Amino acid sequence: MINRKYNGFLDVEILNLKFPNPLILAAGILGLTAPLLKRVVYSGAGGVVTKSIGLKSREGYPNPTIVDLGYGLVNSMGLPNPGLKMFIEELEELKGLKVPLILSIYAFSEEELMTMGKIISKLKAVSAVELNVSCPHVGGISEIGKSPELVKSYVKTLKDNLSNKPIIVKLTPNVSDITSIAMAAVNGGADALTAINTVKSMVIDIETGKPLLAGVFGGLSGPAIKPIALRCVYEITETLDVPVFGCGGVETARDVIEFIMAGAVAVQIGSAIARRGLRVFREISIELKRFLELKGFKSLEEVRGLAHRR
Ligand SMILES: Cc1cc2nc3c(=O)[nH]c(=O)nc-3n(C[C@H](O)[C@H](O)[C@H](O)COP(=O)(O)O)c2cc1C
Repeated sequence: MINRKYNGFLDVEILNLKFPNPLILAAGILGLTAPLLKRVVYSGAGGVVTKSIGLKSREGYPNPTIVDLGYGLVNSMGLPNPGLKMFIEELEELKGLKVPLILSIYAFSEEELMTMGKIISKLKAVSAVELNVSCPHVGGISEIGKSPELVKSYVKTLKDNLSNKPIIVKLTPNVSDITSIAMAAVNGGADALTAINTVKSMVIDIETGKPLLAGVFGGLSGPAIKPIALRCVYEITETLDVPVFGCGGVETARDVIEFIMAGAVAVQIGSAIARRGLRVFREISIELKRFLELKGFKSLEEVRGLAHRR
């Protein structure tokens, strides 16, 4: 049973889905098996996003795939996953999960997306789909998320083939104008957005003089990217009236409040799990409730978007 004792007024309803709190597991961290996803829920997450799944399986890149810089992680996993058909076995075990389950997917072509949309439409365990067009270290995916035309077209294709499930589009910060990409996603039929995926980066091994990661480029996550993610959420919600999940460097209740004040409806948490463990969900929930009580707010909705009112 999920302990909801500390949640109280932290509940949020987004896309007609009820999240007991606004702290959602981000894609790619512990989201590859049913037992791990269940553990995250038992640890107090208000919702979970799976690892990004493609139509076909992928091995990902050889090691090293991840570097801890202290102020953040640089990863170049290369989207390793078992492919949609195999992953359905995990999803079968997740029917009846007490919180919304968001299936993260990616596709290298609109044909792949069409096939995936039709299969996913029948999956009862899936509450919503998050379309990853923003992984900075996999060629063929990162390019989609940088083009408003491709984003609109991919989202429309998914929308046309995915019946009765909301679509969330996960955006890359690696563009000069994130608002135009956000607008293209909404015009294609996105019901919500996630901002942001990791920031394109690299690490060099000074002993060999070569890039440290086998995939050369990686994605920076963790505390270092929080101000970038906040800026992206703020810019999008300043222009568009669409639910935005804030993601990037959330480690404390203060971070969550900043994202909600910037206009986010909820947040996703990834790298903080590597630093603080799974207890991060319950601990932030408690801190968050205390903050609201102390400041006299009755709900997160009262906090949402405050930074826009100047
Ligand atoms: C090891 C690792 C794997 C990730 N895998 C995915 C993935 O499969 N799909 C995706 O959309 N994002 C993936 N991400 C990005 C995260 O979901 C998130 O957008 C990013 O890490 C920023 O949040 P954070 O600072 O809380 O980690 C991954 C991040 C890390 C660190």
